[in-house]
Amino acid sequence: MQRDVIVIGAGAAGLFCATEAGKRGRKVEVLDHAKRLGGKILMSGGGRCNFTNMYSSPENFLSQNPHFCKSALSRYTQWDFIALVEQYKIAYHEKTLGQLFCDNTAKDIVDMLMQECKKAGVTVTNRCEVGEVTYQDGQYHVQTAKGEYVAPSLVIATGGLSMPKLGATPFGYRVAEQFGIPIVPTRAALVPFTLHEHDKTVLGELSGVSLDASAGCNNTHFNESMLFTHRGLSGPAVLQISSYWEPGQEVAFDLYPNGNLHEVLAKEQQRSPDVQLSTALAKIYPKRFVQTTLDYLNIQNKPLRQYQGKQLEQAAHAFGQWQIKPNGTEGYRTAEVTLGGVDTDYISSKTMETKEQQGLYFIGEVLDVTGWLGGYNFQWAWSSGWVAGQVV
Ligand code: FDA
Repeated sequence: MQRDVIVIGAGAAGLFCATEAGKRGRKVEVLDHAKRLGGKILMSGGGRCNFTNMYSSPENFLSQNPHFCKSALSRYTQWDFIALVEQYKIAYHEKTLGQLFCDNTAKDIVDMLMQECKKAGVTVTNRCEVGEVTYQDGQYHVQTAKGEYVAPSLVIATGGLSMPKLGATPFGYRVAEQFGIPIVPTRAALVPFTLHEHDKTVLGELSGVSLDASAGCNNTHFNESMLFTHRGLSGPAVLQISSYWEPGQEVAFDLYPNGNLHEVLAKEQQRSPDVQLSTALAKIYPKRFVQTTLDYLNIQNKPLRQYQGKQLEQAAHAFGQWQIKPNGTEGYRTAEVTLGGVDTDYISSKTMETKEQQGLYFIGEVLDVTGWLGGYNFQWAWSSGWVAGQVV
């Protein structure tokens, strides 16, 4: 089956690239082994798809080469995608920090992409196992359960390793290696932390408690909310810092990130000296959290008047400098994205084409470009898919 372009992976990046190429009159075939099209989009943003971020910029992405994403992000911006969403009259809202979500459901985005494919004459074939890829006389030959597809342009849009249940595989990395392109080591990112046994037992009791916190390591901090779970720590601040954390490192949590806890407690000491420290803290934190945390941090609970000299400051400091050494992460099973991937040094940032192998393109999460939590990863899928779609 001869085509102009074969795209492997019918996720956000693959479908977006395909429609752009189709609009240029290219005969495009998108192949995917998943039963359901756009599985990750449908699950994303709690079913409402955080499809982009109003403040998206290259600083919100991690990569061995931080400059690589700049060109694509500037040529197809969040405002371009927002205009498309508005053209389809999809209702949306800003939830927080520039994050845009559908008002109704993520299916609106999948339907929009499928309509775009239809308009552009793109064929999308799912439930199609993809096998060997070979290159002969300027053409890529892709063996599939539905026969052999042949095209001079091959786009790999098979994403990362997170959520294998949704169809994630290392296929894209294997194709890269086959054509001599190295893979920047991968690991789960935007992922909850698991804790060592003692921490897990004590803090597990706080399962369900959510707090505003700043989480930091490796000179990076995120001031959002954190969530205690029965397995460890989660919530936006934790997911964000997980992308910067390396195994064995500690994470510093400031549990009073927007003020000075010592000042607050000192005022309370003057006003109500007979009140217990736990009672004063319970005005700020959930009661359940205060009791467990005082024990965990070895802070004595007594009336505020009994805190002498620097004792109150030390207690406040313990809440502002909470060091935890995670045991690990929950891994690809629950991670939103994969850090690392196809080495961008081997890819043109203008077109996403492999520098040494004509007609072979990599787009989306399969590349070593990973966004923060908050719509950035979809924006990368749209931007990288769009630039490739102009040239394939
Ligand atoms: P994507 O993973 O979307 O698509 C890859 C496609 O390739 C899949 O359809 C897969 O079936 C197919 N494929 C893989 N291997 C194959 C093989 N061997 N043969 C054939 N087909 C194969 N981001 C964001 O910006 N906002 C958000 O709200 C969220 N929310 C979110 C929630 C959850 C639960 C997850 C797991 C992830 C997110 N993300 C997110 C991240 C975002 O979903 C992700 O970065 C993009 O979907 C990546 O788009 P791609 O098209 O590159 O890969």
